[in-house]
Amino acid sequence: MMELMHDHLPIHLTNLAQRYGSIYRLQCGNTTMVVLNSSEVIREALVKKWSDFAGRPISYTGNIVSGGGRNISLGDFNEEWRAHRRLVHSALQRCCQKSLHDVIERQAMHLRKVLMDYRDSAVDLSEDFTVAASNVITTLAFGKEYDKGSSELQQLHSCLNEIVALWGSSWISALDSLPLLRKLPNPVFDRLLKEVSRRDEIIRGHLNNYKSQDQKNEDAITESLLQGIKKHEHEGLLTDVHVHMATVDLIIGGTETTAAWLNWTVAFLMHRPEVQTRVYEELCTVLEGRYPKYSDRHRLPVLCSLISEVLRLRPVAPLAVPHRAIRDSSIAGYFIPKNTVIIPNLFGAHHDPAVWSDPYSFKPERFLEGGGGSTRALIPFGGGARLCLGESVAKMELFLFTAYLLRDFQFVPAESRASLPDLRGVASVVLKIKSYKVVARPRPRDTVA
Ligand code: HEM
Repeated sequence: MMELMHDHLPIHLTNLAQRYGSIYRLQCGNTTMVVLNSSEVIREALVKKWSDFAGRPISYTGNIVSGGGRNISLGDFNEEWRAHRRLVHSALQRCCQKSLHDVIERQAMHLRKVLMDYRDSAVDLSEDFTVAASNVITTLAFGKEYDKGSSELQQLHSCLNEIVALWGSSWISALDSLPLLRKLPNPVFDRLLKEVSRRDEIIRGHLNNYKSQDQKNEDAITESLLQGIKKHEHEGLLTDVHVHMATVDLIIGGTETTAAWLNWTVAFLMHRPEVQTRVYEELCTVLEGRYPKYSDRHRLPVLCSLISEVLRLRPVAPLAVPHRAIRDSSIAGYFIPKNTVIIPNLFGAHHDPAVWSDPYSFKPERFLEGGGGSTRALIPFGGGARLCLGESVAKMELFLFTAYLLRDFQFVPAESRASLPDLRGVASVVLKIKSYKVVARPRPRDTVA
């Protein structure tokens, strides 16, 4: 149990791998956990043997935050979950084909304007990144975008962040391991219940609002989901609750992850200004002044190498989401009994010295031709049946946001190199950087204009 109460759990588990190898076991009360620390063993479990390890641990408190297990990220593997994931996956795909590019471009242009308006002052951009990422998802979900100061947006995010933080606290996890405690008063648990019902009220408000509109956005994910459950009605598998919980999944999964990644990218670039220059020069040469499209990515290897390297060094979901063995199986030749909890340590896999030379250094060039970086060993989105549902949304966002930002701005520290951001990070479910200030200096083209 003590092993799991560390400030930076992914680093701690990665250090244990140096002692015990790429697969080891931890005992936590009655629960046996197996930690996987190399991309090879993670792929074996998640991809090759996906049908053995596609479950999620079932818990009393997990059920409370997931609408009785009826969401995608925490729902256990069964017929209902499969139908739900299929439905949301095809709704996302449909929506990605129709409008994702335009939606991201619009948010990237908006972000550009916000940064221009800061006029060279030193600011913390984390909230602007959260707004941009959140607006992509809420526009896709129900055609709604928020302003930065909007109280609705703040309420939604404070409530979702609070749920994630409370759910991770030991006051709550104790209720899963010691059922007797559920009979005692627990103010932290009361707060969790209150936040869950506030979340449900906000989401219900949006969905009802969407349903009551005369002119519905036919491209919205909510529309596809509502149509989809009508088709499933005869099977009685999926209901309005699934539409509701899928919306929660997409907002939680799609906001803090992308925003955290953008914060990391700017911070690493402040430490290595020459990488910024190289990406900028590539953008100028290839795009000849225009804004990028996602289809340009094959012609922008330096930019893509930057994206891969930040995903490697700071996989924003460093321990993925725990899996559960749904039958007896094996990994790397070791017997794994049914119900074992599997922790894919993506952070560990991305720092495996057997695969990556100088694994703790920021070196985008490793992903350029001849640099020795292995894109196969890069698994920031997990894999198999539980592969991140928003992978294609995220990839387009990371590419377009970064390209737009680096085309128009140079990111520099506030005063001197002494004010460079601390790159160690704070790990909870999402691996975030400590807040820092940066000056977004417009590139000459824009100061002339
Ligand atoms: C799950 C990474 C962005 C929605 C996951 C998992 C990882 C991950 C590692 C767990 C996989 C597993 O359990 O093995 C990331 C990263 C992102 C990102 C690195 C961005 C940089 C997004 C976005 C969305 C999203 C934009 C929504 C549009 C989800 C959902 C799940 C998930 C719904 C649960 C999937 C399931 O349990 O079947 N993500 N994610 N993620 N992600 Fe993402």
